[in-house]
Amino acid sequence: MRLDSLAVHSGRDDLTALGVHALPLDLSSTNPLPDLDTGGESYESMATGGHPTEGGHVYQRLWNPTVARFETALATLEHAESAVAFASGMAAMSAAVLSRTMLSGKRHVVAVRPMYGGSDHLLSTGLLGTEVTWCTEAEIAASVRPDTALVVVETPANPTLELLDIRAAEAAAGDVPVLVDNTFATPVLQNPLDHGAAMALHSATKYLGGHGDVVGGVIACDEETANGLRQVRAVTGGILHPLGAYLLHRGLATLPLRVRAQQDGAHRLVEFLQGRDEVATVHHPGLDDPRGLVGTQMRGSGAMVAITLHDGYDAAARLTSAVRLFTHAVSLGGVDSLVQHPAALTHRPVAPHARPGAGVVRFSVGLEDPLDLLDDLAAALDASRVATPATPPVAQWRPSTQAPQPAGV
Ligand SMILES: Cc1ncc(COP(=O)(O)O)c(C=O)c1O
Repeated sequence: MRLDSLAVHSGRDDLTALGVHALPLDLSSTNPLPDLDTGGESYESMATGGHPTEGGHVYQRLWNPTVARFETALATLEHAESAVAFASGMAAMSAAVLSRTMLSGKRHVVAVRPMYGGSDHLLSTGLLGTEVTWCTEAEIAASVRPDTALVVVETPANPTLELLDIRAAEAAAGDVPVLVDNTFATPVLQNPLDHGAAMALHSATKYLGGHGDVVGGVIACDEETANGLRQVRAVTGGILHPLGAYLLHRGLATLPLRVRAQQDGAHRLVEFLQGRDEVATVHHPGLDDPRGLVGTQMRGSGAMVAITLHDGYDAAARLTSAVRLFTHAVSLGGVDSLVQHPAALTHRPVAPHARPGAGVVRFSVGLEDPLDLLDDLAAALDASRVATPATPPVAQWRPSTQAPQPAGV
């Protein structure tokens, strides 16, 4: 089957036998055990990263059928053997780091900036007992050491949408597994495992759910890697709630349609923004892509757009206050359009020298009529030129000179 059919039908193989048509939602926190042997064996299997035995689901933190169906569907869309779902994208990232350090006994992580500020924060603080080397794509090979457990990259990268060649990163990493945060591309536009990545991570909160009403995370990978992730998940308690899994699975059916329509809207926005005097640079995959990664590694450029405003922070504060159809809010990937200022919000914990510029504003393009979005932006950009004091508390923010500290988590 092709992508659109898989998006509608994956993870639903057992529904006919159950006599249901819509996805069942099993909220049981605990499960009746058929007998003590079965319960004990199943518990042992799941606590060590395996699957439940027949009839031995035992406890929701270990396994849940609604979560498992979503995992099957996502694995299919990511061309992966398995997937493991978590309570958030950050829970997924934490489990990836912990499982790699647990399995390899190594504690060094190589990571390429920029990436989501929360992931940057997690790695920079060393909260999980790791040491990070930040580098560029070209510096990956030189940054890998004998004690490197994992290479972490994000493409397109949050917030300024730089692209990284996954195949080249994988070659540079040698035998160290590469985790690709695939949140911005979605499996509709990019499948990192096809290019040699060991793990494709999603903040499922974003495009997979698509309606701004669920927080979740998921990692697609091979079954051996999934075993390590499930073990960490069982012990640390980071499993996705079944209601979240139900909503995410339901969201997958419309994912290809949404991403393509949102991408069309983003193209209109890019063209419009390129013609505006207030904008110094428009950031969007494919605009600066000498290696032609859009069209080879990616099947499209996606629906995220960023700009750098000539007039920096104050213009950004005025623009984000002036929008009416766009919502001024963090997050992305939903059916409604959002705008946010990464340096003040999503990337605030990033070390000052690596933080996005004060003039960078990020747009997540939704499903509204693009002409309405352009009208809204035209008015907001006009307002961004008017030199009146911006509304507190945003205006009171000034970039911190402190790198993130463990105590600041
Ligand atoms: C690219 C990316 N990865 C990971 C995350 C973290 O996901 P969550 O907020 O679901 O924990 C985010 C959140 O914005 C993100 O944008």
